Amino acid sequence: MTTFHVKTFGCQMNKHDSERVAGQLSTSGYKPIDDIEEADIIVFITCCVRKHADDRLYGNVDMLRSLKKKKPSTIIAVGGCLAQKDNNRMFEKLPHVDIVFGTYNQEGLIDMINEVRGGGRVLNVSEENIGLSISPALRQSKVHAWVPITIGCDNYCSYCIVPYVRGPERSYPIESIKKAVSDYVGEGVKEVTLLGQNVNSYGRDLYGKPRFTQLLDNISNTEGLERIRFTTSHPKDLKEDVIDIVKEKRSICSHFHLPVQSGSNRVLGDMKRGYSREKYIETALKIRSSIDDVSITTDIMVGFPTESEEDFLDTLDLVERVSFDHAYTFIYSEREGTEAANFKDEVAKEVKNDRFNRLVELQNKHCLESNKALVGRKLKVFVEGRGKRGKQNLSGRTDTNKLIHFSGDDTLINRFIDIKVDEAHSFYLEGEIV
Ligand code: 5AD
Ligand code: SF4
Repeated sequence: MTTFHVKTFGCQMNKHDSERVAGQLSTSGYKPIDDIEEADIIVFITCCVRKHADDRLYGNVDMLRSLKKKKPSTIIAVGGCLAQKDNNRMFEKLPHVDIVFGTYNQEGLIDMINEVRGGGRVLNVSEENIGLSISPALRQSKVHAWVPITIGCDNYCSYCIVPYVRGPERSYPIESIKKAVSDYVGEGVKEVTLLGQNVNSYGRDLYGKPRFTQLLDNISNTEGLERIRFTTSHPKDLKEDVIDIVKEKRSICSHFHLPVQSGSNRVLGDMKRGYSREKYIETALKIRSSIDDVSITTDIMVGFPTESEEDFLDTLDLVERVSFDHAYTFIYSEREGTEAANFKDEVAKEVKNDRFNRLVELQNKHCLESNKALVGRKLKVFVEGRGKRGKQNLSGRTDTNKLIHFSGDDTLINRFIDIKVDEAHSFYLEGEIV
């Protein structure tokens, strides 16, 4: 039987794309295997948000040269964001790759594989198929499902490549999302994560312009669905109605991922983010005052071209004021074709590194503080699987998306249990079953 292995780089949307690629391949009779070296078909789903992602991908695919030499019948396909961006250049850099397919073309992978079998290589990065993917997903988890609600982005933040490689924002209709969710629940899924670059602008392109809250309301009525997560919220579009519905509906998790990027109004303006630091702080404080036990996480970038020390201090100040539960921190990396790539990058590398370290130090302190506040509390935890921490063999997540390790029987996996928190660390909690 022909076997395949799909490897994912990048965000949750990419993880979901990989599950759809795996779904297509397995529906066509191919078998997934864990060992990449044994696979007859190898597919990479790629990311290009930062330069680091490009480098990692090229390094990883390059390593397959010797494998291809040993077993020339192996088909190597590279798809996703970086493939869309680099298209033909990818073939030049990686002569052992057989297929390069872009973000609009993954539905046609089986045809591409058949074409390669007939001899030659296939480049498929056309932007004509702007429709929404409908292929079934082969999910990694039995109990959790990723559910895209929008694809693409219309925001064109000046540093970001996503709109160029994923195209304009398109929303899946409420009915089809609802059906996907209830089908998943029928298969045993208990938790879904709704995905979009900006979930708060959901529906603007649909007839009647349904709001994101209408979608949430609809899905939250799904019998048997325990938890609904969503990401990413764009601060400029997150309005009170979403905060209200999260507060109201038990099944909607009390967690907002609200990327701030910078705490300086000048930088936010240059980034084209569409909000001020004051507005952001107001939204965050509104969330905290409206919902008990809510967590707010964020993305922050340092070293944006022209970021001054004063701008950076504004970022640290905002971090102090909002006190994020967790933050993904990045050093700005120039992406060809974006508006910011034309800005003169005036921040020296050492300065960027120094700011990054100062930001991480401050944020780690906040992570620890927010976790320490939970010590002694009893929390409802969804047991996700075996943990990686010594004696504590299991791990799970709270409603607020905090990772917790504890000891227990394997039969608890995929179930909800109460855990008392004993100890706090910056990035995880430890606890015991009560
Ligand atoms: N350089 C550095 N970080 C970036 N991000 C997006 N584009 C860039 C870039 N050019 C970060 C943002 C975004 C997250 C997914 O990646 O913080 O929210
Ligand atoms: Fe990129 Fe901005 Fe769209 Fe997020 S909202 S994907 S940062 S353009």
